[in-house]
This record gives sequence, structure tokens and C-alpha cells, in this order.
Amino acid sequence: MAIEKIKKAGVAGAGAMGSGIAQLLAMAGCEVTLIDVSDEFLQKGMEKMKWSLDKFVEKKRIRREDADAALARVSVTTSYEQAGKNIDLAIEVVPENIELKKKVFATLDSFAPSNAILASNTSALSITEMGKATKRPDKVAGMHFFNPPQLMTLVEVIKGDNTSQETVATLAELARKLGKTPVIVRKDVRGFIVNRVLGAVFNEAFWAYNRGEATKEGIDASIKYTGGFPMGWFELADFIGIDISYDVGEILYQAYGERFKPCSELIDPLIKEKRYGQKTGLGFYDWAKGRPRIPFNLLDEYDVERTWAVAVNEASWLIHDDAANPEDIDTGMKLGTFWPSGPCEHADRIGIDFLLDKLKELYAKYKMEIYKPCPVLENYVTKGWTGKKVGQGFYKWNSN
Ligand SMILES: NC(=O)c1ccc[n+]([C@@H]2O[C@H](COP(=O)([O-])OP(=O)(O)OC[C@H]3O[C@@H](n4cnc5c(N)ncnc54)[C@H](O)[C@@H]3O)[C@@H](O)[C@H]2O)c1
Repeated sequence: MAIEKIKKAGVAGAGAMGSGIAQLLAMAGCEVTLIDVSDEFLQKGMEKMKWSLDKFVEKKRIRREDADAALARVSVTTSYEQAGKNIDLAIEVVPENIELKKKVFATLDSFAPSNAILASNTSALSITEMGKATKRPDKVAGMHFFNPPQLMTLVEVIKGDNTSQETVATLAELARKLGKTPVIVRKDVRGFIVNRVLGAVFNEAFWAYNRGEATKEGIDASIKYTGGFPMGWFELADFIGIDISYDVGEILYQAYGERFKPCSELIDPLIKEKRYGQKTGLGFYDWAKGRPRIPFNLLDEYDVERTWAVAVNEASWLIHDDAANPEDIDTGMKLGTFWPSGPCEHADRIGIDFLLDKLKELYAKYKMEIYKPCPVLENYVTKGWTGKKVGQGFYKWNSN
């Protein structure tokens, strides 16, 4: 479907993400129907949207009349039948449960015109399975926004096994129209790009801490102050929610086995005690008095290149699986998590050979799959593609 044809949209789920996505569509000129299971949830969703639009006006990012016009384009309903009529696009944003999502896709499929695109904002579930719940799997894809969708500029567009290229291209264009940067995930892989690479570096940090190689404060100080990342991995895990990190970790473990072996000794007690991080006041850190203070003097306790080595290894597996290209992986990590550099460009700058040696050293020492080098890295180094210094690595580099 051509992007100009997307004039009417349905958004299923008026929660944290759904209300934000509905707002973005309305701001871009779409007529939007927000769907939820009760009037109370719909009202809450509309209140969130009003609050956010008011903030945009206050900060002079949009004019009052444009905010009012956007709001006027949104209607609400608890009826899929009513919402589904005449829509060109639906985005599913209900809780992360495959059975529920399949039901929502089957319902949307039964009411929406046959040419409408149906997208899911799932963080980790299978797009292919959702597509199979419909009679139009070629028009079902992932459209993964980041929280808060009004402000975060990244969208991962995910191709399920049966999604057409046309659907992927239309959703990428729609993301651009909403002011976002799309990255394409060409295969229905678990964790897509951002959560998969992040899952790998979290695990490396958790295992290093659990083995007593560094303190959590030391790892976080090194990541923040030496590495230039906005937060250390323990602070970030607390911020995202240990429960959410745990669920994503389990999905990655199921999909990729030992490479994503979770550090259960460390995480399970936190889950049992409901120490989920910032939202419960306690996680790895005590959040009772706000953000944890990460001491500056520990900035050398942990070798940041270990984080990079593991991130680059996982990026290489994405390339190996033909799920994403280096540009999209780098863009994803920079826009989705504010990394100071993408893993592939970092590898090219520091030397792929250097990071490969680091992985080999760690693998020899700990015999864990997380450190086992991906064949892509071995292959690059064998060919002499060690990065910027030789003009070729993940990228081609000009000599001047
Ligand atoms: N919160 C995040 O940081 C984040 C980021 C990216 C993606 N996601 C994904 O977005 C999805 C929604 O997450 P959220 O944080 O907005 O959840 P949420 O709990 O805030 O909102 C979900 C909404 O869906 C409604 N709902 C439940 N069943 C429904 C149905 N059958 N039809 C219509 N509405 C229904 C609920 O009443 C609720 O209002 C999940 O798949 C999640 O993984 C979340």
C-alpha cells in the first residue's frame, strides 16, 4: 500500500505505548480510532495524550491549534467492529502475550478491509505467528517503537516469514512520516536488534560481577565514565525493570541457547523478592533517594572493551543470520539506547582483530558460549578486514 493511502488507523491498546503511538499518527494527519477493553482505559489513554500534546505546546514544539487538531482526529471505542471499518492500518499495542496478540490479530483481520496493514508493537514475540492468525500474513509486520514513543526516534520494522517487502517498505516510510528513523529487521529474530545486543552486554556484566571480577558500581562507573554510555548496565537494568530484562533474557535463552545463558544465581533472587529496580524502589541499587550515585573513582575497574567485544559478537550473529546490516545495527543502538557509537563502527575503529582476540581470550578462560567468536568475525580477520586502519571492516573506509 502506498503511504498516501494511510489515512485512517486503528490502535489496539490505549496504554503507555498505544496512546503515544495514536498521538504520533494523529499528529501526522491520520484519523485514529483508539481501542481498549473498557471506557476507563480509553479515558486514561486520552488523558495521557492530552498531557503529552500540552507538553509539546508548552515547549513550543507544536502550535496549540495543531495539538487541538491532532486530538480532534482521535476517537475511542471498545468495539473492534466499529474501529476496523475502513481503516488502512492497525497497530496492535496490547500486553505482551502471544495468545492475546493472536486473538487481537484475528479480530482485526475479520473487520479490517483486506488491503489494510496490521502491525504489532511487540518487544519480543513472533511476528510470523501473529501473521498466521490472519488471512493476510503478507500484510502483517512488526513496528517496534521505543518508550516514550513521542520522543524516542527509533522504530524497528520487522519482517515476519510471510511479510511482503511492500509492507516493510510502507511501514518504514510511515515511520519516517512520523518523524522517526526506521531500521529494518529482515528476519523474525528474537529481541530484534536493540534488545538482542543489549541482552548480550547485560549478561556479560552480570556474569563478570557474579564471578567477582568487578563490583556492580565498578562496572557501571567504567561503562559510564570510561565508555561514555549514558548509564551503566546495572543502573540501566534497574531503570528498564529487572522483570522486563528477565523476560527478554528468557526469550533470548530459549531462542539462542547457551550463548544467552542467564546468570540465574544473580537474577532469580531479585525476581523472587520482587526487586524490579526503579519502579519498586529496589533492584541492584536502592532507588529510594533517586538515581544511584555511581562513584567516579571506579572508572577503571572493568574493561569496557569486554562489553564492546560481546556487543560486536552479537551484531555479527545478526549479520550472520542475515537479520540486519551494520548500518541498521549501529543506528538501532545509538537511537534506541543512546550508545556513544554503534558496535560495528566501534569495531572498525578499535580493530576487529583486537576484539576477536579479546573474545578468544575470554572464551579460553571461561568456556562460555557468550564469548565464542561468531564466524563472521573470524572470516573478516582471515580476509584482512580488520577495520578502518586497512580501509575495510564492517564498513568500507576512505583512506583520506
Ligand atoms: N512499555 C514499554 O517500554 C514498551 C516499549 C516497546 C514495546 N512495548 C510493547 O508494547 C505493548 C504494550 O505495552 P504497554 O507498556 O503499552 O502496556 P500497557 O499495559 O501500558 O497497555 C496495554 C493496554 O492494552 C489494553 N488491552 C488489553 N487487552 C486488550 C484487547 N484485547 N484489546 C485492546 N486493548 C487491550 C490494556 O487495557 C492496556 O490499556 C507490549 O507488547 C510491549 O511489549 C512496550
